Amino acid sequence: MSVVERVRELRLLLQDASERYYLHDNPPVPDADYDRLFRELQHLEAQHPELRAPDSPTQRVGATPQTRFVTAHHRVPMLSLENARDEAEFLGFAKRCSDRNDTVFCVEPKLDGVSISLTYAAGVLVRAATRGDGETGEDVTPNARTIRSLPLRLDASRIPIPQDLEVRGEVYVSTADFQRFNERRSEAEGRFMNPRNFASGSLRQLDSAISAERPLRIALYTLVDAMPLGLSTQWSVLETLHAWGLPIAEEWSRRCEGSAAVLQRYAELDATRDQLPFEIDGMVVKLDDLALQEELGFRARTPRWAVAWKFAPREEATRLLGMEISVGRTGVLTPVAVLEPVVLGGVTVSSATLHNEDEMVRLDVRLGDRVVVQRAGDVIPKIVKVLLHERVHGALPLHLPQHCPVCGTAVVRDEEEVAVRCPNNSCAAQVKGRILHFASVDAMDINGFGDKLVDQLVDRGLVRQPAQLFALDQTALAGLERMGQRSATRLLQALEHARTPTLGRFLFALGIRHVGAVIAEKLALALGSIERIMVAEHAELEAVPEVGSVVAASVRQWFADTENHASVLALLHAGVRPQVVAARPTAGLLQGIFAIVTGTLPTLERRAAEELLRQHGASVASSVSSRTSFVLAGEKAGSKLSKAVAMKIPVIDEATLLAWLGGGPSPLAP
Ligand code: IVH
Repeated sequence: MSVVERVRELRLLLQDASERYYLHDNPPVPDADYDRLFRELQHLEAQHPELRAPDSPTQRVGATPQTRFVTAHHRVPMLSLENARDEAEFLGFAKRCSDRNDTVFCVEPKLDGVSISLTYAAGVLVRAATRGDGETGEDVTPNARTIRSLPLRLDASRIPIPQDLEVRGEVYVSTADFQRFNERRSEAEGRFMNPRNFASGSLRQLDSAISAERPLRIALYTLVDAMPLGLSTQWSVLETLHAWGLPIAEEWSRRCEGSAAVLQRYAELDATRDQLPFEIDGMVVKLDDLALQEELGFRARTPRWAVAWKFAPREEATRLLGMEISVGRTGVLTPVAVLEPVVLGGVTVSSATLHNEDEMVRLDVRLGDRVVVQRAGDVIPKIVKVLLHERVHGALPLHLPQHCPVCGTAVVRDEEEVAVRCPNNSCAAQVKGRILHFASVDAMDINGFGDKLVDQLVDRGLVRQPAQLFALDQTALAGLERMGQRSATRLLQALEHARTPTLGRFLFALGIRHVGAVIAEKLALALGSIERIMVAEHAELEAVPEVGSVVAASVRQWFADTENHASVLALLHAGVRPQVVAARPTAGLLQGIFAIVTGTLPTLERRAAEELLRQHGASVASSVSSRTSFVLAGEKAGSKLSKAVAMKIPVIDEATLLAWLGGGPSPLAP
């Protein structure tokens, strides 16, 4: 047998083995044999680089570590779902979808993982991207390749595969794998909060070798542009995905005729959710008919034809063993209840937040009480009530301490706020919190700066403020615990890359009160440079869209503080250069076009139409000018329409726009 033939044979054997293992839970060969075949293939590929292929099973072990994720633009935005919390809300949705009572819905479990978009070119996986903000995510292709149940090449034997294909679904971890993995991890390595958290952290590793060690799974549920492929229902989409060899949540998906059947399915799934091998926080109900889906269309960020019907959060009783205090980066003291471990929907919970002193008083929680703990999806578990009748006599009430448990400074309670805080800006807990926030993913995204490392850096006096991170070198890092030369090099590389953040991220990283990632982005876009933001007047800040007077005041106040001012200058001095980014990704059919929407459109609400235009790259303005490329007009359009006509600016209707965006001819063509 030639090398080429053996390589092909090995690939087929290995692929078949992992498919049976992961898709059908039926391994055809013992693990040791699998490993042997795998190593043989690795060896042959190393000797014959010309035979390497992106869909070889060897590609699943992880590629060379990256220092930063490449951004991935979503050609069709990745939307989110509206929630229904109870039967009435679901029925409201069903009624908005259709008046008939035999409408067919496709009902799928709502997997609690992270959504992902996969692109296959000629049937081979070429890109995997996270959702990100819905328009741009992160390219996590090497990591996705490590997911064993994900075919790197699709099976075209039953249904032909289009040249370009995009499918979407959820990356998740089974409850059993999650427990097993967490048990093997030490306290020092840090345990994961819940399967969702674990899945997301594992998928977003710069070193895909780490992802490869994580038991990630995947299920697909969306086929982008399904109708042109001749498909007419969501159910047939699932069948098609399955025929191509893609995993779907087959066993738990149903076609339900009429909303009564959906109600029944809800009761059934809710009652059996603990027996499912993965966490679900509800079910997704979709209109089955794709043509009807298209007719209903979208709101700004959610489709009108689907809803996430959530299950009630999980609750369980357990005992309160004690209380710990955590001090955050703003100095706020948060009481954390230490609990006797209790399993909530497959996840062991041993602590819960008590929020603040008012909440402790409201609950009247005391040491040794039996309490009811609730966990809903991704949120931190909380105590919802105390079982008062089970209280032992003389149980002691809990109070927040009078002094910061970290630095000993007397705490203060702000007048209009419930929070108790440590007023000492240089309290080690605050310093650590600020550094962690600065380095976090949505801020400067400096990979590798976890709490263990930051603890050491701050405790040893190496870092007191963010700018000092950029002065770290091999010598400084070499003295730290659990820090090999390789990790040190990687950290320094990550820091080097972090020197050119976008202005929005930089601003968010500073940790100004009331300035979240979104507001930071708006300020960055409107003001353009850090120098300008530093000196901006209240009015100038307030003029920025979505920035109110509270935010404006907070920004002013932050930069007016000499220490803060100096810390920003120190960052600039350390070579950090915040960049201003373009507002929109550059792709899009309507790139460079200025559009106006006026009047009442037949199906789209005004806001939705504007959002749709923006999603395709257009700028939407409010008044007609010589720059206007076209006016989208509906009924009762007034002066804007007449002005456009007078200025000979093209006027189009909704149908024309939709046809155009759907690939039809441009109404603007000369
Ligand atoms: S459909 C345009 N189906 O839930 C609608 N989403 O809350 C796209 N999810 O971002 C989503 N299971 O990550 C859909 N069977 C399912 C799902 C599902 C889980 C997630 C998905 C989405 C989120 C919305």
